[in-house]
Amino acid sequence: MTTMIPGERPTGAMAFRARGITKVYGEGSAAVHALRGIDLEIPEGEFVVLLGPSGSGKSTLLNIMGGLDRATAGTLHFRDRDLTASSERELTVYRRRHIGFVFQFYNLIPSLTARENVSLVTELVDNVMTPEEALTLVGLADRMRHFPAELSGGEQQRVAVARAVAKRPDVLLCDEPTGALDSVTGIRVLEALASVNRQLGTTTLVITHNASIAVMAHRVVRFADGRIASVEVNKDRRPASEVHW
Ligand SMILES: Nc1ncnc2c1ncn2[C@@H]1O[C@H](COP(=O)(O)OP(=O)(O)O)[C@@H](O)[C@H]1O
Ligand SMILES: [Mg+2]
Repeated sequence: MTTMIPGERPTGAMAFRARGITKVYGEGSAAVHALRGIDLEIPEGEFVVLLGPSGSGKSTLLNIMGGLDRATAGTLHFRDRDLTASSERELTVYRRRHIGFVFQFYNLIPSLTARENVSLVTELVDNVMTPEEALTLVGLADRMRHFPAELSGGEQQRVAVARAVAKRPDVLLCDEPTGALDSVTGIRVLEALASVNRQLGTTTLVITHNASIAVMAHRVVRFADGRIASVEVNKDRRPASEVHW
């Protein structure tokens, strides 16, 4: 073992390690095999894009990684924690402490400003960013006092990103974060995710239908029919501004 400074992680350490993860919804003739044996390693600090057709199991895997759902079989570790052996209570603590989620629809509270939407979360945990810091990180420093209805879809999604990262999660899980957005606003959301990944070192997983987002990734994971079809490492990452819609 090498000596480590507290809080520092060895480069090349794995955030997630999945072995033979399967997920079956339902039983008997109604059973749906959503995941059919996933082996995957996600290194700490990477920006990972998950691609694949609808129904190929991407959301199911992301939800299991985030502790929102459980595998039917197989093992999944987050660092040295075995999520597949964790109790519901342990998974709740894990989610709260380590995971930020961003979904396709932003789920902001309409009667609260951008700042207030972010501060709701920051009241719950320690070592958080101020809402101002989090909103500045996603490029919305000048929009703090606006209500969701006064913001574009992309700006609302950036508020949702600020809300997810304000507690400085180790991992940010994004399920179709640009699915409802046009190219200009979508690119701003991707830029926000890239800044979070770069500035905070947050391990970031992004599910998308837009294959061109893959150019931004350190690693691209392709799903097909509940399995991983390929994993590629990008030698030459491109900025979000070069993503096409
Ligand atoms: N809660 C559920 N109950 C039953 N089947 C589900 C449930 N969630 C997902 N599925 C099924 O599991 C498969 C994988 O779904 P999903 O992980 O959502 O795929 P993707 O995100 O790649 O579109 C699909 O066949 C889907 O219909
Ligand atoms: Mg999905």
